[in-house]
Amino acid sequence: MFSRSAARTVSHARQFSSSAARQHKVAVLGAGGGIGQPLSMLLKLDKNVTSLSLYDIRGAPGVAADVSHIDADSTVKGYAADKLDEALEGVKVVVIPAGVPRKMSRDDLFNTNASIVRDLAAAVARVAPEAHLLIISNPVNSTVPIVSEVLKAAGVYDPRRVFGVTTLDVVRARRFLSEVTGAPTAETGVTVVGGHSGSTIVPLLSHNAHGKGVSGAAYDALVHRIQFGGDEVVQAKDGAGSATLSMAYAGAKFASTLLRGLNGEKGVVAPSFVKSDLFADQGVEYFSSNVELGPNGVEKIHPLGPLTASEEKLLAACLPDLKKNIEKGKAFVA
Ligand code: NAI
Repeated sequence: MFSRSAARTVSHARQFSSSAARQHKVAVLGAGGGIGQPLSMLLKLDKNVTSLSLYDIRGAPGVAADVSHIDADSTVKGYAADKLDEALEGVKVVVIPAGVPRKMSRDDLFNTNASIVRDLAAAVARVAPEAHLLIISNPVNSTVPIVSEVLKAAGVYDPRRVFGVTTLDVVRARRFLSEVTGAPTAETGVTVVGGHSGSTIVPLLSHNAHGKGVSGAAYDALVHRIQFGGDEVVQAKDGAGSATLSMAYAGAKFASTLLRGLNGEKGVVAPSFVKSDLFADQGVEYFSSNVELGPNGVEKIHPLGPLTASEEKLLAACLPDLKKNIEKGKAFVA
């Protein structure tokens, strides 16, 4: 048996090692935007974030001053347009929601966002080459290949550390399946695979006990709503932008899941758009599926599991489009 003081030392050591493992500095690039602001707020509330670095070409110091008053232990600092390198110093996780939101399709933003993401990735490669990058800026199917190519050119690419954030599709699928079936959202988690736009979004409803029962026209309508749910927000905002609050929630949710993995927690699994061998033989280099997250980022990519005939059809429609989107991203950097 331990003496009381020995027990105190052990518990002290435990506290120390668990808090030492949780020293994560997180940067948000595009922190002044519609997504960036609420995302920064939610990250401030995450116990695994000890330091928050907020950067934007406009408005980040103001957002930082505001968020820094929230009574959580993390520190917050804002960086103006010319302070990108400083913002990235010592950062472990970089979340990128910088860019313009779509007015119509996600592809119409390609040129603007492609350059923004390319330049930000180059700065990360230079200042924080070991950081994990979470890409929110659309079109994700192309921006993830862009970031990867930039990191490759800089000689610092590790595919385990580059993630396209597709969590909003997963969040929507859970909510919409709950609405259709009346089951609580705690029971309607759906794995969503493929990419992050329209027909490249493939929900695997058959893997959920409630989703399995949805068929016929109801199934088609549900799949369509998951694939094109973003349009509801774009239309309702009437030209003022796309999803920001639900996206901030989804971005913070994925960041928090990754941080748990980085801390060494076991069995942390979430879908993300990553470099993947699953369909590489069909020329699709990046694919979203369930990935296991650990201290190095992506530890393992899970196979899709059994698919119904309808899901096979969705996948067949996804792959050629996704391949084109990926090639477009790669060509932009080349
Ligand atoms: P927004 O226009 O409200 O905010 C974008 C922010 O990026 C602005 O504050 C702007 O100043 C900043 N910015 C622009 N260039 C920059 C640069 N070079 N460095 C740093 N910051 C820069 O747009 P919103 O609504 O926040 O959307 C941001 C991005 O997220 C868009 O590309 C949008 O399509 C995407 N998005 C992604 C989703 C997903 O599921 N992955 C869902 C919804 C939106």
